[in-house]
Amino acid sequence: VDREDASRDQKLQQICELLEEHIDEFDWVGFYLVDPKADRELILGPYIGEETDHTRIPFGKGICGQAAETNETFMVQDVSKEDNYLACSVHVEAEIVVPVKKDGKFVAELDIDSHTKDSMTEEHRHMLEKVCGVVSPLF
Ligand code: SME
Repeated sequence: VDREDASRDQKLQQICELLEEHIDEFDWVGFYLVDPKADRELILGPYIGEETDHTRIPFGKGICGQAAETNETFMVQDVSKEDNYLACSVHVEAEIVVPVKKDGKFVAELDIDSHTKDSMTEEHRHMLEKVCGVVSPLF
């Protein structure tokens, strides 16, 4: 990690902590970044919440990998209804993944898990898309 990455990670970490602390329904908040050394693979970045086994996710796999592939927000109100889903914890019931774009290109994503079904709202989506727009210059 060079100095620039360290300062970026610190900022991303703070955003995760703020979101997790202020929004009751958000139980795990983290960023996955495109691994520049791999072919279409995500690597876990700053996060807050339970440790996860999914530290690397190929494009196309799970909610995270599908959002990476489409470069679009993926909102799931009931993860038990998804075939292409990677379970991080048995408690997770809803999830939203929002892409971070740099000049339109997918560079990272914000992934949020909730222990409450049907908890993701359009307000959340708009707010999180704004957050991802704000962090884009860090990449
Ligand atoms: N549930 C995600 C995997 C990442 S964990 O939620 C932290 C998925 O299906 O891609």
